[in-house]
Amino acid sequence: MTKPLPPVLSRPESDTLQARVDALLSRMTLAEKIGQTHQVDAGGDTISDDLRRAIREGQIGAVINQTNAETCNELQRLAVEESRLGIPLLCGRDVIHGFRTVMPIPLGQAASWNPDLVREAARLSAIEARRNGINWTFAPMVDISRDPRWGRIAESLGEDPYLTSILGVAMAKGLQGDDLSGPNSIAACAKHFAGYGASESGRDYNTTNIPENELRNVYLPPFRALVDAGIATVMTSFSDIDGVPASANAFLLSDILRDEWGFAGFVVSDWDSVRELSVHGITGNDEEAAIAAVRAGVDMEMAGGAYLEYLEGLVTSGRVRMETIDRMAGNILLIKMKLGLFETQCGDPVALPEHGSEAAIEISRRLARESVVMLRNDNEVLPLRAEKLASVAVVGPLADAPTDQLGTWVFDGDPQLSITPLQAIREQAGNRIVVHHALGLRYSRDRDASLFGEALDAARASDAVILFLGEEAILSGEAHSRADISLPGAQAELVQHLRQAGKPLILVIMAGRPLTLGNVLDASDAILFAWHPGTMAGPAISDLLFGLASPSGKLPVTFPKSVGQIPIYYNHRNTGRPPTSKEMVLIDDIEIGATQTSLGMTAYHLDTGHAPLFPFGFGLSYARFDYGCLELSGDVIGPDDVLTVSVNVTNAGDRAGDEVVQLYVRDLVGSLTRPVRELKGFRRVSLVPGEQQTVSFELTARDLSFYRRNKSFGAEPGDFKVWVGGSSAGGLSAGFRLSGTGAG
Ligand code: GLC
Repeated sequence: MTKPLPPVLSRPESDTLQARVDALLSRMTLAEKIGQTHQVDAGGDTISDDLRRAIREGQIGAVINQTNAETCNELQRLAVEESRLGIPLLCGRDVIHGFRTVMPIPLGQAASWNPDLVREAARLSAIEARRNGINWTFAPMVDISRDPRWGRIAESLGEDPYLTSILGVAMAKGLQGDDLSGPNSIAACAKHFAGYGASESGRDYNTTNIPENELRNVYLPPFRALVDAGIATVMTSFSDIDGVPASANAFLLSDILRDEWGFAGFVVSDWDSVRELSVHGITGNDEEAAIAAVRAGVDMEMAGGAYLEYLEGLVTSGRVRMETIDRMAGNILLIKMKLGLFETQCGDPVALPEHGSEAAIEISRRLARESVVMLRNDNEVLPLRAEKLASVAVVGPLADAPTDQLGTWVFDGDPQLSITPLQAIREQAGNRIVVHHALGLRYSRDRDASLFGEALDAARASDAVILFLGEEAILSGEAHSRADISLPGAQAELVQHLRQAGKPLILVIMAGRPLTLGNVLDASDAILFAWHPGTMAGPAISDLLFGLASPSGKLPVTFPKSVGQIPIYYNHRNTGRPPTSKEMVLIDDIEIGATQTSLGMTAYHLDTGHAPLFPFGFGLSYARFDYGCLELSGDVIGPDDVLTVSVNVTNAGDRAGDEVVQLYVRDLVGSLTRPVRELKGFRRVSLVPGEQQTVSFELTARDLSFYRRNKSFGAEPGDFKVWVGGSSAGGLSAGFRLSGTGAG
């Protein structure tokens, strides 16, 4: 079992720290306490006089979007040296997947299924950010995302609660380090609490309606894992959940986050989402919005200014209690003290490694390489045999796009550091292989086919064609949802056009979401899905194309055949009429005059069936992995027992490769309908040809537990099924029983 990483931050680890907070609060005026709850945008080249004054008067607890080291240090100097109590600032910035050196987008990182690498990438990103004075970031985003129309799926770690929990904790550990007060550590933030990924129709900021058992069994587990791992902050989501926006949702922010989970950090609202409560229509004006957010449990307001404007009057009028303000400011001061900001508040451009360090570049390359998922490789057209290749055509709008390969949320990414696929392939080809480059299309949305001719010429002149397609970075991320998730522009037409050359056609797709690829799948011989791979997209992809490494990524999210199938995800429930192939008549097979009940009465779409294009956990390799000898340590376990599940994995191919071995379970009968499969463990193993490894997992009753209809959390005695394999489809299976009494 991939054990959660040890917690970094215990609850307020000592009375000393809390005593320091209480002592400071006792010296603060009401206005200064309210100042701590106020975060302002401090972006720009200069510090305005108004901002200087507000900091001197203790009206600001945190700034956001200032990324210049000297300016951040001047902001801190103003706070520490020129305000009455010298309380340092939190300097926040979205370091979602890198700072100057850009790592793959989080959805791509999730495809690596490699927590250690994800953690190292976050650690190196934290160092680059801290160097510039940033001490707080708004990551990891752990919204479970089952809808690829949603632009923010790019920032997520996919559709599965277990994988998202493990990787989200790894990212937070990388950011916060083993010691939050360390010189390389920055405070992390679990966002967006909660259920944002369920936005209706995948349209951003949209309504969500999530029954409590779905909320607790699907959307909340990653946040719980982060709270248990000591995340410093939590951010509320923009969205309303069952009619109550998150920033006014006491059930989420107080009952669950504080009372049930014991969260010990502070809650920040998403950008201006406090005042947006009146846009939602849950409050009538900014003052009421401030009251609602304070009472729900929002400690700090990001942008907006309603807290600064109204809280003092609300306290003096008795509508908000002073104890509430003390609690809010105290939660914030506690994190500032855990960060060690009262001792060291500034970034140190000299002491920390240069941006784009060798370590950061190497990790960016490794993580990009391990994030690429090979979806197709007909006739083993990949890897390209350089020794047999005289020429290669490199075509497409994403072959040489140093900014677009970085993906969304890269305000601080440096495209100058990017190495594009065209550059890397030329490097790899040297003077042995001729590289013919042609755009085909100038950008991903381009519909102008005037460059198709020269692209076809390049293809005809080459032994193989590598076509780089996908989405520009702007087509995913916040507020960038799509109702049609096929390749934009005339890209599908370009694929068909190049097929005329009759050469091996390899698609490399960079995108911020799963795409519906049905119209290009059969036209290509191989497909590498690279997400937006970041700074080192080129070397990572070239390594795979030329066989210096084998593709090892596995899908963290289901790929639908058509947008009409959405939502579609692997851990769905069985329904009372699950589709079975023998009962499924597809639209083109329906006889003329077919009678009403002649097609079978099961849950599928007439025109598409029920299966996805590619399932969660899927990914091909140059190696070939055989699974055998699935063994369980018993066929009955008691509530306190440990079930060991082991399997032999053999590399039966002729190339080395990594395999992500996955463990799934199904609770066959429960007090609620249960998913047909749930991921409960995974392990990445490296095998050379002929090598065999025995991979073992441990399952306990806790792993089988869920939030139940009687509103309790626990496992239920009964029969279970277990699978082990390289995807959420298929695999070796066995059964076991969980008994309700002692040892099994
Ligand atoms: C944005 C996002 C949030 C981000 C914040 C600060 O609107 O929703 O994820 O951290 O504002 O940029």
